Amino acid sequence: MTKKSSKDTLQPPKGTRDILPEEQGFYKLIYDKAEEIAQYYGFGQIRTPHFEYVDLFTATIGESTDIVEKQMYSLKTRGKNHLVLRPEGTAPIMRAYISNGMHTRPQPVMAYYKGSFFRYERPQKGRLREFQQFGLEILGEEKAIADSTIIKLFVTILEEVGLKNLMVRINSIGDKECRPAYKKELVAYYRKNINKLCKDCRQRIKTNPLRLLDCKDENCQELKKDAPQILGFLCSPCRAHFKETLEFLDAFDVSYMIDHALVRGLDYYSRTVFEIFPEEEPANKEEEDKDNKKTEKSSALVALAAGGRYDDLSKILGKKDIPASGGAMGIERTIDLLKKQGKSLKKKKPKVFFIQIGQTARLKSIPLLEKFRKAGIAIGQSFAKEGITNQLQVASKLKIPYAVILGQKEALENSVIIRNMENRSQETVSVDEVIEKIKGLK
Ligand code: HAM
Repeated sequence: MTKKSSKDTLQPPKGTRDILPEEQGFYKLIYDKAEEIAQYYGFGQIRTPHFEYVDLFTATIGESTDIVEKQMYSLKTRGKNHLVLRPEGTAPIMRAYISNGMHTRPQPVMAYYKGSFFRYERPQKGRLREFQQFGLEILGEEKAIADSTIIKLFVTILEEVGLKNLMVRINSIGDKECRPAYKKELVAYYRKNINKLCKDCRQRIKTNPLRLLDCKDENCQELKKDAPQILGFLCSPCRAHFKETLEFLDAFDVSYMIDHALVRGLDYYSRTVFEIFPEEEPANKEEEDKDNKKTEKSSALVALAAGGRYDDLSKILGKKDIPASGGAMGIERTIDLLKKQGKSLKKKKPKVFFIQIGQTARLKSIPLLEKFRKAGIAIGQSFAKEGITNQLQVASKLKIPYAVILGQKEALENSVIIRNMENRSQETVSVDEVIEKIKGLK
């Protein structure tokens, strides 16, 4: 075992972070909105384990994808099982649908999920090793309306948490019938230009030619401009599906851009693929470029949500056709952008600051606070501080309008003092009356 220095052990592992109390509001804002919208449209939550058997991902995401080749956190158990921390949520949701016999329920099954996912990536802006996603999946539905609804709902969630200027990029990557002819043409084009390709792409020609279009290397990006485009190769059912998806998006008032180079990094997709990102260029382009080592397109880093159709995934898992479509949004990227667009969280100020002085008062303080809590009255307090002056100072600093003071004498007499922090007037009331009294104050 390699020994870590104490400096290392005091840091969270690379690519992970501690989410402190002041950050929680952003997570809550996004998850609450996403769940409200998902539930309104009939999605139910599925929680799958944080780890799964490795084969679930190697088979479905694809052996020659970045995730499977380089990014999975592997665990070998004592029982010699090979497990991995989940790098994404779609394969586990399909696994859960199959293993729980959900095909017997009314179709489609509409599921949402949220939580941590794990990828061993080079940590940089917008790319973490543990990150959170909110995902939507519609299983058992082949119609284009499922694809468009997923896209519409992600746009709605992102807009309603406060983001502006979103752009949907969309493409169709065909299906098993029409994709092989396109791949052949693509490979032929790139073979002619093999000397200009980066090292990874020379490998991709053999293992995963569609990903040639996804490469961020400058020379490869240049070559991409003249590469054959898949839309010209779609079979008629795929073409009809794509056309319908776009028509629904028009009807749903979602603006989009067809991106011929959008292929996505996971093998399970067929037909529709999409990504949603902020339209604007990064505010500090120079810094962003530095972060991306000057080779990656900024939009690739800031995709807020992404997904598509995966009609063949169930077959890869050995089951009959379960057509499906879905997507997932990155919570940290959404939060980063919200902050960049100036969103701040307004904390509700409590009406009352609670002050206790002396041991007898301290003993009575929790039962009294429980009365306030049950009455729905928010309270500020500073338990660790001793002495009335210190505590009053905190109350005025927080600009809380009233203080409830429980001193030694009041504790014995079962009363409290209510102090108006602005005009400093005070009144003693019995503990039994305090709630009604506070409720009556403006
Ligand atoms: P994905 O594009 O790999 O797709 O991830 C979806 C979103 O998760 C990204 O757009 C991004 O916002 C966020 N994300 C991904 N990797 C990271 C990372 N390392 N750090 C921070 N955020 C990240 C999927 O995962 C598919 N399962 C989506 C899907 C659902 N397709 C169909 N259904």
